[in-house]
Amino acid sequence: MAVYLASFAPTTGPNALAAQIEARTAPRVLDSTGARIYSASCAVCHQPGRGSELFGVRPSLALNSNVHASTPDNLIRTILHGIETPALPELGAMPAFRNTFDDRQVTALVRYLRAQFAPDAPDWADVEESVARLRRAPAKGDDGSS
Ligand code: HEC
Repeated sequence: MAVYLASFAPTTGPNALAAQIEARTAPRVLDSTGARIYSASCAVCHQPGRGSELFGVRPSLALNSNVHASTPDNLIRTILHGIETPALPELGAMPAFRNTFDDRQVTALVRYLRAQFAPDAPDWADVEESVARLRRAPAKGDDGSS
């Protein structure tokens, strides 16, 4: 798994290597804004042991493919637009957070989730640009009326 994920990392040239080393050593897990947002807004449903039994089907975001993906787009979409139609009706819906967080807060949260739940994967580039782009893009099944 780690080897597979590492194959997404830039591998050529000394600059890429330096960037990789920097990403490894930067205190990214300690991004306190992202950590605070996660524990205040997400952990209630997603933290193993803290979520209600209803959400036991998806116990931890560490197991969610979105945090391991090569781009943050699906994760950002989920945060901005929530999930209106859950995989199982018993799961309940996930609220949309687009009116709760600004782009910088979503960016901090996404970086935190990546570092926390996919520690072997390289940092995503241009997260804030992706948040701004996806906020403007209409979501599937979202008519923008809310
Ligand atoms: C009220 C409970 C609740 C809160 C709060 C919540 N979620 Fe969720 N979330 C869910 C449920 C339920 C699902 C599963 C829906 C499904 O599997 O169909 C889910 C699924 C997800 C997924 C997986 C999406 C996918 O397509 O696989 C991600 C990623 C996620 N949530 C991130 C977050 C983040 C980040 C936050 C905080 C900003 C958050 N959630 C807050 C209930 C919640």
